[in-house]
Amino acid sequence: MNILVTGGAGYIGSHTCIALLEAGHKIIVADNLCNSKAETVDKIKQITNKEVTFYQIDVTDEKALDYVFSNHSIDGVIHFAGLKSVGESVEKPLEYYYNNLVATMVLCKACRNYGVKKFVFSSSATVYGDNRVPFEEAMKLLPTTNPYGETKTMIERILTDIAKVSQDWSVALLRYFNPVGAHESGLIGEAPNGVPNNLMPYITKVAKGELEKLYIFGDDYPTVDGTGVRDYIHVMDIAEGHVAALDKLTSGVHIYNLGTGEGTSVLQLVKTFEEVNNIEIPYEIVERRTGDIAICYADTSKAKKELGWTTKRGIVEMCRDSWAFKTNYKG
Ligand code: NAD
Ligand code: UD1
Repeated sequence: MNILVTGGAGYIGSHTCIALLEAGHKIIVADNLCNSKAETVDKIKQITNKEVTFYQIDVTDEKALDYVFSNHSIDGVIHFAGLKSVGESVEKPLEYYYNNLVATMVLCKACRNYGVKKFVFSSSATVYGDNRVPFEEAMKLLPTTNPYGETKTMIERILTDIAKVSQDWSVALLRYFNPVGAHESGLIGEAPNGVPNNLMPYITKVAKGELEKLYIFGDDYPTVDGTGVRDYIHVMDIAEGHVAALDKLTSGVHIYNLGTGEGTSVLQLVKTFEEVNNIEIPYEIVERRTGDIAICYADTSKAKKELGWTTKRGIVEMCRDSWAFKTNYKG
């Protein structure tokens, strides 16, 4: 299939491009590079030895998107393009609602105009809010604590409403848990600007000596050791989950958790990172971070049953590959 990958130069998008190319699909990447670099597209070509068509466009730009759709016979869309920083979304709600919602609606209009009926969307476990674990797809969603999270809930709703009236549309809403790690080549991975908000990029910066120590947000949660528990998932497993979703997509709206089903605490992750990479990570326990929940992990049975997809990599591989990318990366 010819797949349009919006946000394909970004962290998860670039890994998914590799998985798509390796599965025999052709890809067209549309990205405005607001949080990524054009060289990532070259790395995708280098890793796979395959062609990638790249358009540096903003997905909110109707004319630019129309140009892309008119130039290619697109069979399906995977929509990664969006802003994703929770803290920044609280500071800049208008920018987040505008970018994430308008990009999705403009993309849906182009799909309708050109008869593209397969649509895969990057949602997040954040839509579950503070539910009981494990999170199941059929659960009633609870409010999120920030505009970023709300854009995910709203976009899920928009796509569901569209698919209700456009019954030949096939929509997959993929709820990612905590993507970490990097492609095993060490050529692409996650390289956030400035001080990272997320745990793994923070750990790799401490490991490299770019930050002095890790601040662990709370050790008084009702968890195995008091620190927060998350379902970390290797980004290449997430990438392969998209290929499985595309292959199995049938009409209607289908929601899948992309997680491992295993919870890991902050301290467990730090310890594994230290052991796997033989590096000490100095840390200090500080106050809880506002908006954090204690425990989050997926029920993965639906994705396994319907997509035939399960994760192949564990936290050892996640720690190894995150560090390999960090040591390799000159950015
Ligand atoms: P990322 O920032 O690395 O990638 C997003 C890409 O979209 C970037 O390359 C950026 O330049 C591009 N982009 C943003 N707005 C655009 C626009 N209007 N037009 C064109 N390009 C645009 O982020 P990521 O971690 O790869 O996340 C990809 C998607 O997955 C996002 O929608 C994100 O919200 C979602 N998600 C991410 C996580 C995570 O932990 N990384 C978790 C759950 C969901
Ligand atoms: C965060 C976002 C969530 C988003 C997800 C993936 C918040 C409140 N939530 O989730 O919406 O979908 O990223 O992008 O920002 N931790 C530390 N020290 C750090 C960083 C993190 O102790 O410097 C802890 C956190 O308290 C948490 C765990 O590590 O227990 C994971 O944190 P993080 O990587 O930010 O992911 P989430 O909080 O799950």
